[in-house]
Amino acid sequence: MAERDALLALALRLAREAGAIQRSRYESAFAIETKSQPVDLVTEVDHACEAHLVEALARERPHDAVLAEEGRGRDESGAAIRWVIDPLDGTTNFAHGYPRFAVSLGVEQDGEPALGVVYDPLLDELYHAVAGGGAFRNGRAIRVSREARFERALLATGFAYDKAVSDDDNLAEFRAALKNARELRRDGSAALDLCYVASGRLDGYWEHKLKRWDVAAGGLIVREAGGRVTDRAGGESWRSGHAVVATNGAIHEALLSLLAGARAR
Ligand code: IPD
Ligand code: CA
Ligand code: CA
Repeated sequence: MAERDALLALALRLAREAGAIQRSRYESAFAIETKSQPVDLVTEVDHACEAHLVEALARERPHDAVLAEEGRGRDESGAAIRWVIDPLDGTTNFAHGYPRFAVSLGVEQDGEPALGVVYDPLLDELYHAVAGGGAFRNGRAIRVSREARFERALLATGFAYDKAVSDDDNLAEFRAALKNARELRRDGSAALDLCYVASGRLDGYWEHKLKRWDVAAGGLIVREAGGRVTDRAGGESWRSGHAVVATNGAIHEALLSLLAGARAR
């Protein structure tokens, strides 16, 4: 337990430090490049945050493995502790000055989710969960919503960067959810979408083609807040990010079947 406490204290501190970098560079001039697609951006600030996080971990936790989105981590197999890092989740928002982005730090112990921290630096909202220990925002316990009626649900989703060239583009699912739920958001940060499910601001969220670093922290935070996280078949493969469905639990089966029905059409 002492080790978990130390890991949590470090994760909270590092998330705040990377968030401070984001806050200080928000709406300033920074370089922007593209990655897998013309719409898949990475900024100088993504790189600065990742460098800060990876360098701090190399100093303070030299034996831990680190998987970090922009490639600076050393993801060595065999390490008991593995950090799974999205240094800036919501890069498109950040690049446009749209105020919704976050730092996301997940920690796995012996391959299992052990803790998760997500920090929104503009709202100064720090979410965290430790496996078996509940979920929190700024130190106060959070819970998923109680909404059990799908037609009253507020949902969120996102679209992958290959949307211009792939037929598996989430549009059929988006349409079905929009028609059947109360409302639907696309706000551009998977880590925050998950934290919003955990804290009851959203009743459900799904997305396809995410990566491990998008869901490592937020998925645990949803579970620890009493919610359900699965892949689209209701199974455990969500941790790969390939397909993630996260809800308050009460609307989970309804969302799974709506998504399956929309894809089959
Ligand atoms: C993206 C955001 C976005 C989601 C994308 C992710 P990034 O992460 O989480 O909401 O729709 O699929 O890739 O690229 O800003 O770290
Ligand atoms: Ca991301
Ligand atoms: Ca990112």
